[in-house]
Amino acid sequence: MTDLDFSGKTVLVVGGSSGIGNGIAHGFLSRGAQVHVWGTRPSAEDYDAAEGSDLSGLIYSCVDVSDSAAIAAHEATFDSLDVLVLSQGVVRYGQEEFEKPGWDYVMDVNIDSLMACASKYHPLLAAAKGAMIIVSSISGMQGNIGNPAYAASKAAAISLTKTLGQAWARDGIRVNGLAPGLVPTKLTAVTTENEKRLQGALRAIPLRRVGTPEDMAGVVMFLASPLAAYVQGQTIIADGGLTL
Ligand SMILES: NC(=O)c1ccc[n+]([C@@H]2O[C@H](COP(=O)([O-])OP(=O)(O)OC[C@H]3O[C@@H](n4cnc5c(N)ncnc54)[C@H](OP(=O)(O)O)[C@@H]3O)[C@@H](O)[C@H]2O)c1
Repeated sequence: MTDLDFSGKTVLVVGGSSGIGNGIAHGFLSRGAQVHVWGTRPSAEDYDAAEGSDLSGLIYSCVDVSDSAAIAAHEATFDSLDVLVLSQGVVRYGQEEFEKPGWDYVMDVNIDSLMACASKYHPLLAAAKGAMIIVSSISGMQGNIGNPAYAASKAAAISLTKTLGQAWARDGIRVNGLAPGLVPTKLTAVTTENEKRLQGALRAIPLRRVGTPEDMAGVVMFLASPLAAYVQGQTIIADGGLTL
């Protein structure tokens, strides 16, 4: 058995219905795990591969994580959990995050729901001596034009990764994070589907390409694996060098 063989392990990817989370889910699935994913649509059939959503082989549940009561009420589709990946995230454009409704929604999904999901599954992760990986963003490490809630929520996610890493170490749970750079998904289509903006973004990335969900899955699987047995509370940047 290699360090990246997840046979016999159970993984939940919140936000695993599309984009980066979906790539992470398939990374674990292809390495033997049973993988559960959450998203916002009523059923798996409501997702489309053309949008970056491949639900084949994944066990899907609809849970609106902007509603902490819905997270608490959700009946788990598993009875043990080895890896919890929190990849849910939203952004609001057009200055909406400067107004309270936009600010609140982004905060509900991007930070409050992290704690609600983490708390819900803490007992199962402790029983399994498991791992949790929080997906934040390089936006949490710098200013972000037009998106105060997104940037603040991601800074908070990086902080939460440190504090839960400290607090849960005694339970044998490793908590770490991934801070992606630019990955084409529905969240970033406003940039990646605009040729001029995309070219501008590429000029700033030393590796001269955008990231892929598979690139992100590689980091998350490393963090969940025994290869990262002594890594705790850290957020790994995977941005092709953009923040350098
Ligand atoms: N793409 C990038 O360049 C980039 C860069 C840095 C960080 N990130 C972070 O990476 C994570 C994944 O984003 P992505 O780019 O892969 O975008 P995405 O394709 O839009 O994925 C976001 C995921 O979050 C889920 N989600 C959003 N609101 C939710 C809610 N209220 N309840 C339950 N699930 C909800 C979505 O469900 P549905 O599929 O049902 O909408 C989806 O599974 C986010 O935390 C994002 O901030 C992305």
